[in-house]
Parts: sequence; C-alpha cells; structure tokens
Amino acid sequence: MPQTNQALDDRALLDRAREAAESAYVPYSRFPVGAALHLRSGVIVTGCNVENASYGLTICAERTAVTRMVAQSTDPGERQIVRVAIIGLKASPCYPCGACRQVLHEFGCQQVIVEESGEPRAHRFSELLPFGFGPSDLA
Ligand code: THU
Repeated sequence: MPQTNQALDDRALLDRAREAAESAYVPYSRFPVGAALHLRSGVIVTGCNVENASYGLTICAERTAVTRMVAQSTDPGERQIVRVAIIGLKASPCYPCGACRQVLHEFGCQQVIVEESGEPRAHRFSELLPFGFGPSDLA
C-alpha cells in the first residue's frame, strides 16, 4: 500500500529509495538503483531499475516509480511529484539520466535529492533540466 507522510525528510526519502533498490533486477549491469517519489498528496511511490536481455529495453528506477504512480491512482494530487530521491547502491551520488529527467518533468517534479558522502543533497529540478519542455508548452 502507498505510504502517506507529508513530513518525510530528505534522509527518510533516500532510505525509501535505498530500500527500493534492493528489489532491482540488474543481472547485466549489476548496478541497482532505487527511486522514491514524494507526491503532492503526501504519498510515497518507489521504483527500481528493471533490465532486459535486450539491453535497450531496460527501465530505470525513476521511470518504474512514475509508471507505478500513474497506474495506482487517477487523483491529480497523486500524479504530481514534489520531489524525487535517488540512490545507486554502487555509485553515489546517482543522478537521473536524461530520459528520466524528461519523464519526471512531465509530472511537475520540483526537486531532486541524491546522496553524497552519506549526506542528502538537494537540487532544484531546473538545475538538472533547464528550459525543459513540458505539458504547459503544448497548452
Ligand atoms: N539507471 C537507473 O535506474 N536510473 C538512472 O537514473 C541511471 C541509470 C539504471 C539503468 C541500468 O539498469 C543501470 O542503471 C546502469 O545504467
């Protein structure tokens, strides 16, 4: 079940991402990644990377989390991402790839939390995707 906790701090959100990374399916890269989305509603949705023998079909942790988010509720507040925490069990900090930045932008993500030397580090989303193209550009 989704967890609701508006006050979840950066460290706790990173811990949710770390826990999600433990489920990663990474027989090829052996590079487990976890992502935890904090939604406007307060709900937390997590995801891990899922690889494939046809390498290009790999789904990153962030996009697993976003597709879970969409599939689990049609409530607009549960489709708005306030921030995302990302953990790579083998690399720190682990920043989202370009494709994931675009997908996170679609749902309004405002902040990205990564871990550096064991400490949470927060970035404004616009630092990672300046001049991003999103839904409002089509309005
Ligand atoms: N990966 C993610 O899950 N998220 C990222 O933002 C970076 C890369 C995954 C994809 C692949 O399974 C592994 O990390 C190595 O690229």
